[in-house]
Amino acid sequence: METKFGSKVHIMDHPLVAHKLTIMRDKNTSVKDFRELVSEIGMLITYEATRDLPLTTKHIETPICGMDAPTLAGRKFVVVPILRAGLGLVDGVLRMVPSARVGHIGMYRDEETLEPHPYFCKMPKDVAERDVLIVDPMLATGGSAAEAIDEMKKRGCKHIKLMVLVAAPEGIEHIQKLHPDVEIYAGALDDHLNKNGYIVPGLGDAGDRIFGTK
Ligand code: PRP
Ligand code: URA
Repeated sequence: METKFGSKVHIMDHPLVAHKLTIMRDKNTSVKDFRELVSEIGMLITYEATRDLPLTTKHIETPICGMDAPTLAGRKFVVVPILRAGLGLVDGVLRMVPSARVGHIGMYRDEETLEPHPYFCKMPKDVAERDVLIVDPMLATGGSAAEAIDEMKKRGCKHIKLMVLVAAPEGIEHIQKLHPDVEIYAGALDDHLNKNGYIVPGLGDAGDRIFGTK
Protein backbone atom coordinates (compact mmCIF):
# COMPACT_ATOMS: atom_id res chain seq x y z
CA MET A 1 0.00 0.00 0.00
CA GLU A 2 1.31 3.47 -0.98
CA THR A 3 1.78 5.93 1.90
CA LYS A 4 3.30 9.36 2.40
CA PHE A 5 6.35 7.60 3.88
CA GLY A 6 7.76 6.48 0.54
CA SER A 7 9.09 3.27 -0.89
CA LYS A 8 10.90 2.02 2.22
CA VAL A 9 7.67 1.63 4.18
CA HIS A 10 5.48 -1.34 3.31
CA ILE A 11 2.02 -1.47 4.83
CA MET A 12 0.32 -4.82 4.22
CA ASP A 13 -2.61 -4.71 1.90
CA HIS A 14 -4.01 -8.19 2.32
CA PRO A 15 -7.47 -9.28 3.48
CA LEU A 16 -6.08 -12.09 5.68
CA VAL A 17 -3.83 -9.69 7.58
CA ALA A 18 -6.64 -7.16 7.95
CA HIS A 19 -9.07 -9.82 9.20
CA LYS A 20 -6.63 -11.36 11.68
CA LEU A 21 -5.62 -7.95 13.01
CA THR A 22 -9.26 -7.10 13.68
CA ILE A 23 -9.56 -10.19 15.87
CA MET A 24 -6.37 -9.20 17.68
CA ARG A 25 -7.58 -5.65 18.28
CA ASP A 26 -10.77 -6.91 19.96
CA LYS A 27 -10.25 -6.63 23.70
CA ASN A 28 -12.31 -9.80 24.25
CA THR A 29 -9.90 -12.02 22.27
CA SER A 30 -8.28 -14.66 24.48
CA VAL A 31 -4.56 -14.90 25.21
CA LYS A 32 -4.42 -18.20 23.31
CA ASP A 33 -6.04 -16.75 20.17
CA PHE A 34 -4.02 -13.53 20.39
CA ARG A 35 -0.75 -15.47 20.60
CA GLU A 36 -1.66 -17.70 17.64
CA LEU A 37 -2.63 -14.69 15.54
CA VAL A 38 0.66 -12.88 16.27
CA SER A 39 2.46 -15.90 14.91
CA GLU A 40 0.21 -16.24 11.84
CA ILE A 41 0.45 -12.57 10.88
CA GLY A 42 4.20 -12.77 11.50
CA MET A 43 4.33 -15.49 8.87
CA LEU A 44 2.29 -13.48 6.38
CA ILE A 45 4.40 -10.32 6.78
CA THR A 46 7.60 -12.39 6.47
CA TYR A 47 6.33 -13.44 3.05
CA GLU A 48 6.42 -9.77 1.99
CA ALA A 49 9.63 -8.90 3.84
CA THR A 50 11.53 -11.68 2.02
CA ARG A 51 10.26 -10.77 -1.45
CA ASP A 52 13.68 -9.45 -2.51
CA LEU A 53 15.72 -12.51 -1.40
CA PRO A 54 18.08 -13.38 -4.24
CA LEU A 55 17.56 -16.58 -6.20
CA THR A 56 19.98 -18.76 -8.07
CA THR A 57 19.25 -21.95 -10.03
CA LYS A 58 20.15 -25.56 -9.54
CA HIS A 59 19.70 -28.48 -11.88
CA ILE A 60 17.09 -31.04 -10.83
CA GLU A 61 15.26 -33.90 -12.49
CA THR A 62 11.48 -33.73 -12.29
CA PRO A 63 9.60 -36.97 -13.04
CA ILE A 64 9.19 -35.58 -16.57
CA CYS A 65 12.49 -33.91 -17.50
CA GLY A 66 15.57 -32.06 -16.29
CA MET A 67 15.33 -28.36 -15.45
CA ASP A 68 17.35 -25.48 -14.02
CA ALA A 69 15.04 -24.58 -11.13
CA PRO A 70 15.03 -21.50 -8.87
CA THR A 71 16.42 -21.89 -5.36
CA LEU A 72 17.36 -19.37 -2.65
CA ALA A 73 20.89 -18.07 -3.13
CA GLY A 74 21.64 -18.92 0.47
CA ARG A 75 22.05 -15.44 1.98
CA LYS A 76 22.51 -15.70 5.74
CA PHE A 77 19.59 -14.44 7.78
CA VAL A 78 19.00 -13.56 11.44
CA VAL A 79 15.67 -12.72 13.06
CA VAL A 80 15.98 -10.45 16.09
CA PRO A 81 12.98 -10.20 18.42
CA ILE A 82 12.81 -7.25 20.80
CA LEU A 83 11.90 -8.90 24.12
CA ARG A 84 9.42 -9.59 25.32
CA ALA A 85 6.65 -9.07 22.79
CA GLY A 86 8.85 -9.66 19.74
CA LEU A 87 9.20 -13.29 20.81
CA GLY A 88 5.64 -13.87 19.65
CA LEU A 89 6.69 -13.25 16.04
CA VAL A 90 9.74 -15.53 15.90
CA ASP A 91 7.87 -18.74 15.29
CA GLY A 92 6.05 -17.31 12.23
CA VAL A 93 9.31 -16.06 10.72
CA LEU A 94 11.06 -19.39 11.31
CA ARG A 95 8.24 -21.27 9.61
CA MET A 96 9.03 -19.27 6.45
CA VAL A 97 12.84 -19.20 6.86
CA PRO A 98 13.68 -22.32 8.89
CA SER A 99 17.46 -21.92 8.60
CA ALA A 100 17.48 -18.43 10.15
CA ARG A 101 19.44 -17.81 13.33
CA VAL A 102 17.81 -15.96 16.23
CA GLY A 103 19.42 -13.07 18.11
CA HIS A 104 17.69 -11.54 21.13
CA ILE A 105 17.53 -7.92 22.27
CA GLY A 106 15.94 -7.24 25.65
CA MET A 107 14.36 -3.81 25.97
CA TYR A 108 11.59 -2.31 28.05
CA ARG A 109 9.97 1.08 27.69
CA ASP A 110 9.83 3.28 30.79
CA GLU A 111 6.12 3.89 31.31
CA GLU A 112 6.67 7.52 32.38
CA THR A 113 9.39 8.78 30.03
CA LEU A 114 8.66 6.27 27.19
CA GLU A 115 12.46 5.91 26.83
CA PRO A 116 13.74 2.43 25.90
CA HIS A 117 15.99 0.60 28.38
CA PRO A 118 18.13 -2.18 26.93
CA TYR A 119 18.83 -5.07 29.33
CA PHE A 120 20.03 -7.99 27.19
CA CYS A 121 21.69 -8.72 23.85
CA LYS A 122 22.82 -12.06 22.48
CA MET A 123 23.66 -12.44 18.78
CA PRO A 124 25.17 -15.13 16.57
CA LYS A 125 28.96 -14.60 16.21
CA ASP A 126 28.76 -13.92 12.48
CA VAL A 127 25.85 -11.47 12.80
CA ALA A 128 27.63 -8.75 10.77
CA GLU A 129 27.45 -11.03 7.69
CA ARG A 130 23.73 -11.66 8.04
CA ASP A 131 20.60 -9.96 6.73
CA VAL A 132 18.73 -8.76 9.83
CA LEU A 133 14.98 -8.80 10.44
CA ILE A 134 14.11 -7.05 13.72
CA VAL A 135 10.64 -8.04 14.92
CA ASP A 136 8.31 -6.42 17.44
CA PRO A 137 4.49 -6.25 17.32
CA MET A 138 4.36 -2.53 18.11
CA LEU A 139 6.11 0.52 16.63
CA ALA A 140 4.83 3.33 18.86
CA THR A 141 7.26 6.22 19.48
CA GLY A 142 9.89 4.17 17.64
CA GLY A 143 12.35 4.52 20.53
CA SER A 144 12.74 0.77 21.14
CA ALA A 145 13.13 -0.13 17.47
CA ALA A 146 15.60 2.72 16.84
CA GLU A 147 17.71 1.56 19.80
CA ALA A 148 17.62 -2.04 18.52
CA ILE A 149 18.71 -0.89 15.04
CA ASP A 150 21.57 1.10 16.65
CA GLU A 151 22.67 -2.02 18.48
CA MET A 152 22.73 -4.07 15.27
CA LYS A 153 24.63 -1.36 13.39
CA LYS A 154 27.22 -1.21 16.21
CA ARG A 155 27.75 -4.92 15.58
CA GLY A 156 28.47 -4.26 11.91
CA CYS A 157 25.11 -5.22 10.39
CA LYS A 158 24.37 -3.50 7.09
CA HIS A 159 21.12 -4.94 5.76
CA ILE A 160 18.44 -4.33 8.36
CA LYS A 161 14.65 -4.57 8.06
CA LEU A 162 12.05 -3.93 10.73
CA MET A 163 8.80 -5.92 10.92
CA VAL A 164 5.87 -4.88 13.13
CA LEU A 165 2.18 -5.71 13.33
CA VAL A 166 0.93 -2.19 14.07
CA ALA A 167 2.79 1.05 13.42
CA ALA A 168 2.04 4.61 14.52
CA PRO A 169 2.99 7.42 12.12
CA GLU A 170 5.16 8.90 14.91
CA GLY A 171 7.19 5.68 15.08
CA ILE A 172 7.73 5.46 11.34
CA GLU A 173 8.86 9.11 11.24
CA HIS A 174 11.30 8.48 14.10
CA ILE A 175 12.88 5.48 12.35
CA GLN A 176 13.05 7.29 9.01
CA LYS A 177 14.81 10.24 10.67
CA LEU A 178 17.43 8.13 12.50
CA HIS A 179 17.74 5.15 10.15
CA PRO A 180 16.56 6.09 6.64
CA ASP A 181 18.23 2.98 5.23
CA VAL A 182 15.95 0.58 7.14
CA GLU A 183 12.88 -0.82 5.38
CA ILE A 184 9.76 -1.11 7.53
CA TYR A 185 7.09 -3.80 7.06
CA ALA A 186 3.87 -3.27 9.03
CA GLY A 187 0.58 -5.16 9.21
CA ALA A 188 -1.29 -1.86 9.65
CA LEU A 189 -0.67 1.85 9.92
CA ASP A 190 -2.73 3.27 12.78
CA ASP A 191 -3.83 6.81 13.54
CA HIS A 192 -1.73 8.28 16.34
CA LEU A 193 -0.28 7.81 19.84
CA ASN A 194 -2.29 8.73 22.93
CA LYS A 195 -0.83 10.73 25.81
CA ASN A 196 0.46 7.50 27.42
CA GLY A 197 2.35 6.53 24.26
CA TYR A 198 -0.13 3.81 23.25
CA ILE A 199 -1.10 3.34 19.62
CA VAL A 200 -4.68 4.39 18.76
CA PRO A 201 -6.73 2.37 17.92
CA GLY A 202 -3.92 -0.18 18.41
CA LEU A 203 -4.33 -3.41 20.28
CA GLY A 204 -3.23 -2.48 23.80
CA ASP A 205 -0.12 -3.80 25.48
CA ALA A 206 1.13 -6.48 23.12
CA GLY A 207 3.48 -8.15 25.64
CA ASP A 208 0.74 -8.44 28.26
CA ARG A 209 -1.72 -9.83 25.72
CA ILE A 210 0.75 -12.41 24.34
CA PHE A 211 1.94 -13.63 27.73
CA GLY A 212 -1.23 -13.04 29.76
CA THR A 213 0.49 -10.84 32.31
CA LYS A 214 -2.40 -8.52 33.03
C1 PRP B 1 6.43 -2.54 23.79
C2 PRP B 1 6.54 -3.08 22.37
C3 PRP B 1 7.77 -2.37 21.86
C4 PRP B 1 7.67 -1.02 22.52
C5 PRP B 1 7.11 -0.05 21.52
O1 PRP B 1 7.30 -3.20 24.62
O2 PRP B 1 6.63 -4.47 22.33
O3 PRP B 1 8.99 -2.99 22.19
O4 PRP B 1 6.75 -1.17 23.63
O5 PRP B 1 7.11 1.24 22.03
P1 PRP B 1 8.05 2.38 21.45
O6 PRP B 1 7.97 2.32 19.97
O7 PRP B 1 7.44 3.63 22.02
O8 PRP B 1 9.45 2.16 21.96
P2 PRP B 1 7.33 -2.96 26.20
O9 PRP B 1 8.33 -1.90 26.57
O10 PRP B 1 5.94 -2.75 26.71
O11 PRP B 1 7.94 -4.30 26.77
P3 PRP B 1 7.39 -5.81 26.70
O12 PRP B 1 7.62 -6.29 25.31
O13 PRP B 1 8.27 -6.49 27.68
O14 PRP B 1 5.95 -5.81 27.10
N1 URA C 1 3.62 -0.91 23.36
C1 URA C 1 2.50 -1.69 23.27
O1 URA C 1 2.53 -2.89 23.64
N2 URA C 1 1.39 -1.14 22.77
C2 URA C 1 1.33 0.14 22.36
O2 URA C 1 0.27 0.59 21.91
C3 URA C 1 2.49 0.93 22.47
C4 URA C 1 3.62 0.37 22.96
